[in-house]
Amino acid sequence: MNQESFTTQSPTTSQGPTNSLNRRGFLAGSAVLLGANAMAQKTTPVPKPAEPAQQTAPTGPFALPPLPWAENALEPHISGKTIGFHYGKHHRAYIDKLNKAVEGKKLAEMKLEDVIVETGKDPSTASIFNNAAQAWNHAFYWKSLEPKGGDEPKGKLADMIKADFGGLDGFKKEFAEAANGQFGSGWAWLVVENGKLRVVKTGNADTPIARGGKPLVTCDVWEHAYYLDYQNKRADYIAAVLDKLLNWEFASQNLAG
Ligand SMILES: [Fe+2]
Repeated sequence: MNQESFTTQSPTTSQGPTNSLNRRGFLAGSAVLLGANAMAQKTTPVPKPAEPAQQTAPTGPFALPPLPWAENALEPHISGKTIGFHYGKHHRAYIDKLNKAVEGKKLAEMKLEDVIVETGKDPSTASIFNNAAQAWNHAFYWKSLEPKGGDEPKGKLADMIKADFGGLDGFKKEFAEAANGQFGSGWAWLVVENGKLRVVKTGNADTPIARGGKPLVTCDVWEHAYYLDYQNKRADYIAAVLDKLLNWEFASQNLAG
């Protein structure tokens, strides 16, 4: 099955301080009406200060990073509805599950990248790896896209694209083939290896950084990334990412970093 299951947050039910204060106020008022002033003064509770609002964000060491743009900023190429589900349900669920899985473990004190490398070595920690890698991959994917992106790489990156792919069209062709050719769920990546650019694809949650790779940009090809907007036309979604959304400035920053 290609698509992840949705995990929804339980609605927060908070006994708001307003309700309880109103109730107290009503009781105190009733006592006065009954002519029991002295008694009321002794028994009327002192209102407590308002309690802080209940947290709705995932708790634990790993936080859901904010999107770098508004949910509808990538329209008409990726809808606000797709981003709303993808970020608000899928990405959030990876963070929530990761936090639950590392609770009380040494992993809870590690950087996310180190959790990925550590759990990627051991098949018995595959479920933690999957959630950690997906948490990282999605944060990287959001930054790989930008409204009015898909222009042209600049500077050193442009030179490398020309040297290693014969130019931007050559890169797009190879990247689209990898993204379309990924059987089932996964990711397509532009990475640097031994000083050269390469296009690679990974299945499911797998990520180049598990093996010390250096990605510059990525494209999520899980169905949840495009199905609401493109249904089975994955190629159209990938073309929109490459031509209209890809953030070459982010790629250059990663190359320099
Ligand atoms: Fe995704």
